[in-house]
Amino acid sequence: MAWHYRLKCIGCGAEFPPNTIIYKCSSCGELLSVEYNNDLMSPEISLRWASRPLTVWRYIELLPISDSSKMVSLGEGGTSLNRCVRLGCELNLKNLYVKNEGENPTGSFKDRGMTVGVTKALELDMKRVACASTGNTSASLAAYAAKAGLECIVLIPSGKVAFGKLVQAIIHGARVIQVKGNFDEALRIVEELCLTQPIYLLNSINPYRLEGQKTIAFEIWDQMGHKVPDKVIVPVGNAGNISAIWKGFKELYMAGLIEKLPEMIGIQSEGAAPIANFIKGGLKEMRFVERPETIATAIRIGSPVNWKKAVKAIKESGGLAETVSDEEILSAQALLARREGIFVEPASAAAIAGLIKLADMKLIDRDETVVCILTGHGLKDPDIVLRQFPKPVEIEADLEALIKIFAS
Ligand code: F0G
Repeated sequence: MAWHYRLKCIGCGAEFPPNTIIYKCSSCGELLSVEYNNDLMSPEISLRWASRPLTVWRYIELLPISDSSKMVSLGEGGTSLNRCVRLGCELNLKNLYVKNEGENPTGSFKDRGMTVGVTKALELDMKRVACASTGNTSASLAAYAAKAGLECIVLIPSGKVAFGKLVQAIIHGARVIQVKGNFDEALRIVEELCLTQPIYLLNSINPYRLEGQKTIAFEIWDQMGHKVPDKVIVPVGNAGNISAIWKGFKELYMAGLIEKLPEMIGIQSEGAAPIANFIKGGLKEMRFVERPETIATAIRIGSPVNWKKAVKAIKESGGLAETVSDEEILSAQALLARREGIFVEPASAAAIAGLIKLADMKLIDRDETVVCILTGHGLKDPDIVLRQFPKPVEIEADLEALIKIFAS
């Protein structure tokens, strides 16, 4: 069979055939990336896209799947790109947009990766899939594994996963294992498990999963009338998504479909910000965070496995990284909900908090087009909201009592 892609090491450049089950380079241990054959990289590639619905699979020519009959789909992708006039006005930005990934089937951008990753698991004839997760990856993998009829194992940091996400993994029948430790520790052991057992690892070190996530870039380009924004703001945890989105934009560029690339801006929570600290501090060596802590549990990660890819994305694009506090995240979450009618989870609100901070610092020009990636739905973590706001008032079922409330 002739393949239209191959795996390439981001460190030493070694290449591996597509049908090998491998997550890191066997020569130097670096991460792998999916590279497509040169003849695909021309503007003609987009001719067939236009007639297909806006979903992850619209872009199948640039996805690493050979047998589309095995496709495992729940209708992912095609999320709204909303123009934010009210929030934009408040921040003095004329062209502010948000891409609402909470609209995906399990409520986060992870579904884009899992539709490709779980399809890949079937192509590779794997019967079991696994991941470590701060919540959304496990919710998504559990759903796609259920759809595919695969056994699913998920490892989560004990007591640090929002209930909405835990419930999703449970209802879809995943084997949920709580690890007494943080995400980084859970990832280390699940990686070891998958290297020694016939279980397919679907964390973001899996290069195929990230291919699905790069379609965020393709969709933004499509939704903006074949243009790209000046800046894209992404919350960063394990750093797979920002790397994937950058790869998507670069492929559009390599295919001759765009003439300029956006700046990639990564936002991390202050208590879990190794990448932002590395970039902002101009450090020579990456300093991982041993005990990451933040209210945005989805990005409570101290040793992001994709850090090299993410740093490259930010630097190559001329972008930047910033940190935000838990207070800034919560206030951005409420502001977005009240100005734009979009309820996101705290990790996604980190992108908005970053936007506000950068606008305050005059690092975003009023006329620039900015897209914030809202990675997950707010209903996954309602407790956080209930804890911050007073309980609604209670009255007798009586009109006078009701009127009194408004008078007070
Ligand atoms: N936003 C949300 C809602 C997330 O769930 C995640 C990651 C991120 C942002 C960061 O993306 O890791 O690619 O930099 N959640 C993972 C999980 C780690 O297990 O669900 P990233």
